Amino acid sequence: MKYLIGIDVGTSGTKTVLFDIYGKVTASETVEYPLYQPKNGWAEQEPEDWWNASVEGIKAVIDRSGCDKSEIAGVGLSGQMHGLVMLDKNGCVLRRSIIWCDQRTHEECDDIDNIVGRDKVIEITANPPMTGFTASKILWVKKHEPEIYEKCAHILLPKDYIRFRLTGEYATEVSDASGMQLMDVAKRQWSREILSLLDIDISLLAEMYESPDVTGNVSKSASELTGLPEGIPVAGGAGDNAAAAIGTGIVRSGSAFNTLGSSAVIYAVTDRLNADKKGRVHGLCASVPGKWTLMSCTQGAGISLKWFANNFFLQEKEEAKKRNTSIYNIIDKKASDVPIGSEKLLFLPYLMGERSPHPDAFCRGVFFGLSAIHNREHLVRAVMEGVAFSQRECMDVFRENGAGVDSITLCGGGSRSPVWRQMLADLYSCPVSVLESDEGGALGAALLAGVGAKIYSSVEEAADSVVKKIPAAEPIAENTERYEPYYELYKKLYLSLKENFVELYDI
Ligand code: XUL
Repeated sequence: MKYLIGIDVGTSGTKTVLFDIYGKVTASETVEYPLYQPKNGWAEQEPEDWWNASVEGIKAVIDRSGCDKSEIAGVGLSGQMHGLVMLDKNGCVLRRSIIWCDQRTHEECDDIDNIVGRDKVIEITANPPMTGFTASKILWVKKHEPEIYEKCAHILLPKDYIRFRLTGEYATEVSDASGMQLMDVAKRQWSREILSLLDIDISLLAEMYESPDVTGNVSKSASELTGLPEGIPVAGGAGDNAAAAIGTGIVRSGSAFNTLGSSAVIYAVTDRLNADKKGRVHGLCASVPGKWTLMSCTQGAGISLKWFANNFFLQEKEEAKKRNTSIYNIIDKKASDVPIGSEKLLFLPYLMGERSPHPDAFCRGVFFGLSAIHNREHLVRAVMEGVAFSQRECMDVFRENGAGVDSITLCGGGSRSPVWRQMLADLYSCPVSVLESDEGGALGAALLAGVGAKIYSSVEEAADSVVKKIPAAEPIAENTERYEPYYELYKKLYLSLKENFVELYDI
């Protein structure tokens, strides 16, 4: 039996999983590390921590599985996108990585707007200038830490740093690199025009591959450290969402996955680049060669429900703990007893500002329509509906841009809620399914390694043969009709309040 390893370099920790070629988990290990926030809105991590966590994870899964090491056929990498790793000419890390959720680069985004022009940035990179993306982070270091920029010889993304440590190669792949804002996303290559306008030398950037391509082989020194067989291939892999797409079987146009975790992501595969001209959702290269994706990110999905549970369901939380069940099962039951529309109560889920479809750092959460008849149960259903409306608003942008989504695979913690499943089926007007096993990014990365190692003939074949789904909800036309007036009103509220959010911030 052959095995594949998927390594997912996340924000709270790195998850390493050893799969057999049928996608069954043989052993799994997650090693956590700190997030540094030296200033409000800044977020940094230590690349060495990612590497140590990967080494520990690889050793642990090999050990624990008891598998014959020589049967490990390849390694695939997945990870948090957009983070800036800077190395000197000897491959030594020059500073902590500025990661995806760091918000320090407002001014640099304005600079990109002014130098390149917003329409051109969107036309070439398929995204408006984003604080989260890598280009503005590079410009920030150049402006504020010129002595470090001067020494920089290589720029890598987080998972590509692990590749460098495993193989010695400076390489990346299209799905993650398209989140750097330095690519011509339609052509799937670095954009010389953007690089020259921003005055970034192309020699700093890594060699570009497609996601299943073999980008290098495990070196002798990495083999000694990790226990991986020397010389086995390391595939391109993918950014965390693009890898999760493979691990959830989203490899063809017409289908999408929707993660309901702390944040929520919708990721749809398209046959050509359908970037949104207004920049409301991201356009990226998919990890399936020759395909692209639209992707939305809602900042406060599960976070909204968790906030509500932590503040207003304290007693039930205690009870749930005693009964060894989840507070969310209790909340789900309560929300299901309230009618659609929560008796005319709406919630805007902007507790953490918003990214899609309203990139806005200033907006905040709102309950709208509160009346004396409302109780906690109405409020909690309104929170769930608000998150579902925000997902529908993103889906409308996808559909407006020609991404005809006709089925959704729901994953993340929120996928365990029958109420949310039904809400989303009703609001998207399409069936919702869930996964038999939710290994997301690590499975996607391992499957890409399997294609690279020629165990599967294509990414599509790999996903089809391994990913198993369970139907979870069918749309109910009558519900869709009842949600519609609330959804229409929900959309108007952000537009009405946009200026007031800034006013609130300025107080
Ligand atoms: C995607 C994004 C996050 C990070 C961290 O654009 O910013 O999903 O990849 O998970």
